Amino acid sequence: MGIDLSNKKIAVLGAGKLGGTLVQAWMREGLLTKDMIRATVRHPERARSQTEKLHIEVGTDNAQAVRGADIIFICVKPQTVQEVVEEIRPHISAGQLVISVAASVPTGQIENVLGGNTAVVRAMPNTPCGLGAGMTGLCKGRYVTPDQIALACSLFDVVGRTVVVDEKHMDAVTGLSASGPAFIYIILESLAEAGVKVGLPRETATLLAAQMTMGSAKMVLETGDHPAQLKDSVTTPAGCTIDGILELEEGKLRVTLIKAVVKATQRAKELAFNE
Ligand SMILES: NC(=O)c1ccc[n+]([C@@H]2O[C@H](COP(=O)([O-])OP(=O)(O)OC[C@H]3O[C@@H](n4cnc5c(N)ncnc54)[C@H](OP(=O)(O)O)[C@@H]3O)[C@@H](O)[C@H]2O)c1
Repeated sequence: MGIDLSNKKIAVLGAGKLGGTLVQAWMREGLLTKDMIRATVRHPERARSQTEKLHIEVGTDNAQAVRGADIIFICVKPQTVQEVVEEIRPHISAGQLVISVAASVPTGQIENVLGGNTAVVRAMPNTPCGLGAGMTGLCKGRYVTPDQIALACSLFDVVGRTVVVDEKHMDAVTGLSASGPAFIYIILESLAEAGVKVGLPRETATLLAAQMTMGSAKMVLETGDHPAQLKDSVTTPAGCTIDGILELEEGKLRVTLIKAVVKATQRAKELAFNE
């Protein structure tokens, strides 16, 4: 949204699944060109295959990648973040923006290693980013300016929607929108199974369930109506839907989903403490 990336150089440390998805989206959407991006992985053979796949320069030298970069993406696994940040510390310069997507790694941990007033943004995307239908929660570290967080958001807007939250809510974002696709797949699979039970071919049942789920989410996002209001509009008195809803209530679907998100959030917190 009006963010000018034309002079920016971006280093992606850990161009695996997520890093690769972001790189491909930035180039596909014309946000960045190949000469603006440098990326690394750990293994030389992987560097060669990612170079071919992503059509950018992928190496294994993190120090070289971050020198002169305006934005440094840390896309390695959470347990590798400390090692990578220590490795790049001597090569970081003032004004660089660090964006970490590592689950459960607080901005403070990265700031402490890098020292100075390094701007660190933490982001939590989810797997649908691969299809441009992702959801990313972002939060600011201590030294991030409004322009820098806007810049960070613009780099994730190309793979879906973004929302900025306080860092204390990042574990909740992990438990809801990052773990959430797994919960929805289970619901989808169950609905498809239900379709089979009432006589539909499996493929048809899966299509009905998936498109219906997407459409319902779109209704919430695009009308801005409360989900309860949208539910009420489907539920005619003495109709079929209310009978189905009765079963859901008896099966404690709401409580079960709430507990699933609470547990996933707690686990994200535990992982942060164990690092
Ligand atoms: N995938 C998602 O949708 C998603 C969603 C939210 C958050 N995340 C976060 O994103 C991060 C990456 O996840 P991923 O699924 O993309 O994992 P991944 O596919 O395993 O990618 C990690 C990459 O890091 C590279 N790497 C390891 N050590 C390195 C080092 N010292 N220097 C440079 N690169 C190094 C690996 O290189 P090699 O291939 O050579 O081993 C690999 O390519 C994680 O922290 C995860 O929490 C991912």
